[in-house]
Amino acid sequence: MNTITFPEGFLWGAATSSYQIEGSPLADGAGPSNWHRYTHMPGMVLNGDTGDVACDHYNRFREDILLMRELGLKAYRFSISWSRILPEGTGRMNQKGIDFYSRLVDGLLESGIEPFATLYHWDLPAALDDRGGWVNRDIASWFAEYAEVMFQALDGRIRHWATLNEPWVVADAGYLYGVHAPGHRSRFEAPLVSHNLMRAHGAAVSLYRSIGKHQIGLVVNLEPKYPASEKAEDRNATRLADAYMNRQYLDPLFKGSYPEEMAEMFEDAWPEFPAEDFDSIRQPIDFLGINYYTRGIMKADPASHVEKATRVKNDYATHMTIGWEVFPQGLTDILLQVRNQYGDIPIYITENGSTFYDPPVAEDDRLEDPLRVSYLRKHLGAIHEAIGKGVNLKGYFAWSLLDNFEWGQGYSKRFGIVHVDFSTQKRTVKNSGRLYQEVIRNNGL
Ligand code: FCB
Repeated sequence: MNTITFPEGFLWGAATSSYQIEGSPLADGAGPSNWHRYTHMPGMVLNGDTGDVACDHYNRFREDILLMRELGLKAYRFSISWSRILPEGTGRMNQKGIDFYSRLVDGLLESGIEPFATLYHWDLPAALDDRGGWVNRDIASWFAEYAEVMFQALDGRIRHWATLNEPWVVADAGYLYGVHAPGHRSRFEAPLVSHNLMRAHGAAVSLYRSIGKHQIGLVVNLEPKYPASEKAEDRNATRLADAYMNRQYLDPLFKGSYPEEMAEMFEDAWPEFPAEDFDSIRQPIDFLGINYYTRGIMKADPASHVEKATRVKNDYATHMTIGWEVFPQGLTDILLQVRNQYGDIPIYITENGSTFYDPPVAEDDRLEDPLRVSYLRKHLGAIHEAIGKGVNLKGYFAWSLLDNFEWGQGYSKRFGIVHVDFSTQKRTVKNSGRLYQEVIRNNGL
């Protein structure tokens, strides 16, 4: 018998993204993306890894759908590669790129799996990078042009669209700290990038209201922040860190303005934004997607680049090999924080997952993955608690269906509930995948 049961119709899924799994980045007329370009620059990604092959999902998607069926997934969250659709980012359309996603969606629907599509999960057409990428205000209309092509092609078959995945990571890792494509380090660019991401989101939502029939939302990564001590300066650092990572996106989305802390952090690099931009950014969305991995324990650090806060490590907790603390309570806390600050919006956990003992440390994170099993159980407990407290949670997506290309960390970090042997492309369900299969079957655990 289950000890915890989820609401009927709860949407159980798993997530991936285009550049992380597809491989064949230039196949069938696709243009290069910023990530294709970035991974081919020496020294940018651990071990020189690239997404050239990744999980070869571009050629193996049918096999991967069978795997999803075996796991019993009700939904699959994937992303569309903009440069497969519009090789130059705007203008010329590449039908073969559209056909790939069309076949994928048909295959999912035939298997009774709901497609949940993200339009932008970080792979930008390189041609648009050459025009300033996310720094250029025109990108809102470039994005809307691309979104329109996809809505026209697939809205009959896709009922959940997400505009962007994690705008904070795009701005912070890509344009402030230079550890993701395009590798810029600029305090002046980062706020423009965040703002243009939100404008692009808004432009796609407006367009969707005129031509789409289903649901559209935004996916953000959220981290509850806690002070390292009760000192006033640490509590202040916590407030800044929360503004920087969480409210920088949620406030404009739901309230139509930025948190006042932004100017305090960015100082002379914080621009004045045209007031009318916020009308588009704050349009109602149908759901909010939340990606959750860990929390932040913050202490004041006046020397830090922007946030004026740094993280403190909790030596008493388990950490993932990527450095993130395992803190399930944070998932309940952030869900309640969102509900309390922004109201009763329908929410999906669009990503949640972990990585431990990655090769070459130990080859045994193959099929037996007790720490991932435990992470999964505890986080499902955390969302169940949030539902019990009235959070309007509609579904959960495990990150990730497959071990895959983990951005700057290359293939060294495995987040899959299914193991991928990258030399043979063999997929094998891990114990965490087996547990998840059972959870879905029983709608609980
Ligand atoms: C999230 C990303 C996802 C993956 C996980 C581990 O920030 O959305 O692509 O890298 O982290």
